[in-house]
Amino acid sequence: MSESVTVRVPAKVNVQLAVGAARPDGFHDLANVFLAVGLYDEITVTPADELRVTCAGPDAAQVPLDATNLAARAAIALAGRYGIEPRVHIHIDKDIPVAGGMAGGSADGAGALLACDALWSTGAGRDELLAICADLGSDVPFSLVGGAALGVGRGEQLTPVETGGTFHWVFAVADGGLSTPAVYREFDRLTAGMAVPEPVASPVLLEALRTGDTKALAAALSNGLQPAALSLRPSLADTLAAGTGAGALAALVSGSGPTTAFLAEDEASARTIADALTASATCRETRVAVSPATGAVVCADMSTGRCCAP
Ligand code: C5P
Repeated sequence: MSESVTVRVPAKVNVQLAVGAARPDGFHDLANVFLAVGLYDEITVTPADELRVTCAGPDAAQVPLDATNLAARAAIALAGRYGIEPRVHIHIDKDIPVAGGMAGGSADGAGALLACDALWSTGAGRDELLAICADLGSDVPFSLVGGAALGVGRGEQLTPVETGGTFHWVFAVADGGLSTPAVYREFDRLTAGMAVPEPVASPVLLEALRTGDTKALAAALSNGLQPAALSLRPSLADTLAAGTGAGALAALVSGSGPTTAFLAEDEASARTIADALTASATCRETRVAVSPATGAVVCADMSTGRCCAP
């Protein structure tokens, strides 16, 4: 058995998030076009006397280290299926904003699952890992596969989406998080009594991804949760305006927020937008990243200490 396994997992932005009416189970049917972006958490699992989670990084204090952590739940779920005691130390090196709408928790779940699978040599197939991911949360399967994908159902049923070229993003991280269930509840409140259309993926958006056409993608970006996120956090409108004022081709809330995402024409423009957002004091910090990014990968070379370079 190897001593430890490290897995690197990307963040995501939703380039389209079409939200249907609440289902009887409380979830919402989605047409959710995920795009993985090059901000990564690294999850290392090491055999230990008992299950333990630690986290390092600027936002580490906001990460729960108990059994509610998706990484711990992933280890428990996989161990349960294979009759293994989940005696591992899970360490999360966190670079993805916490509770920001960028699937940081989901990334840790997918990463811990893949790392434990490698550590324990369970031989679980890809479909089985994806099913465990779906049990852990609606966004977790995408964290495993990365790239770009359309998620339907509650977002867990994935079909790969073709992408051409590289997209340049700026992310503005807000102070504090937004609870995803609270944002969906606000969506329900705002749409009460209205006919909510069936969510469908936009062919124009999928074509823009396929051809790598940044301007066409900018014109097609949409997030059905944005009104709800803005209703709960009105100050995000100032952040969105600061980014578009600095030349972003488009601005939107990332998933359930409160991170906001800005699509830039190129790398230089992304840096200009990031600087303007910092100067505007409408966010806590900014991050520049490109997409698409590969999904969860086991790092090849553990001898160098640091994980695979993005
Ligand atoms: O699946 P996950 O645990 O990430 O979902 C968190 C919460 O977000 C759910 O409990 C639900 O309130 C909301 N949600 C939803 N519809 C979805 C996905 C999530 O209402 N498709």
